[in-house]
Amino acid sequence: MAIRKVARMGHPVLRKVARDVQADEIRSPEFQRLIADMKATMREYGGIGIAAPQVHESVQLALIELPPSAEEPGQNLTVFVNPKIKVLDKEEQGYWEGCLSVPELRGLVFRPRKVEVSYLDENGKKQTLVVEDFLATVVQHELDHLQGILFVDRIEDMTKLAFLEEYQRYCLPSSDEGIGELGD
Ligand code: NI
Repeated sequence: MAIRKVARMGHPVLRKVARDVQADEIRSPEFQRLIADMKATMREYGGIGIAAPQVHESVQLALIELPPSAEEPGQNLTVFVNPKIKVLDKEEQGYWEGCLSVPELRGLVFRPRKVEVSYLDENGKKQTLVVEDFLATVVQHELDHLQGILFVDRIEDMTKLAFLEEYQRYCLPSSDEGIGELGD
């Protein structure tokens, strides 16, 4: 298991549509090593999600791990291979997002509130997951990476893009605005 270097905004790998993974490729030692390395890298940098292009591998693979908190039930480590997303509730919700590939910045992004993801897990088994609220934003952020999309592309109001320090000083959401925060 190794911590990999994270690609930052401007690196072309972050802008490519990642290729699909073959089902028999998932069980290969190389692919399993990539999953383990992404897990280690996500944890090292304190992220709650990571996509393969962020570690310079342009394949349809993303991980999410969200520890439970007072506001959120959390999500155990989940491995998404070849994920497909379906919007279940078009109503949009806003969160201040950050990204390991866009360090030191936060931006307010609105996304659908509830989605369903169909994917293969780390054993190549078909899975479906329904996520809502904050977790729905986390999943959509990670799956965007597999299409070459960064959260900054989805900011509608560019006055809502801030450096972390200024975000904490001037933009931190009050709980009654219905706007939350996504660390990475
Ligand atoms: Ni990201």
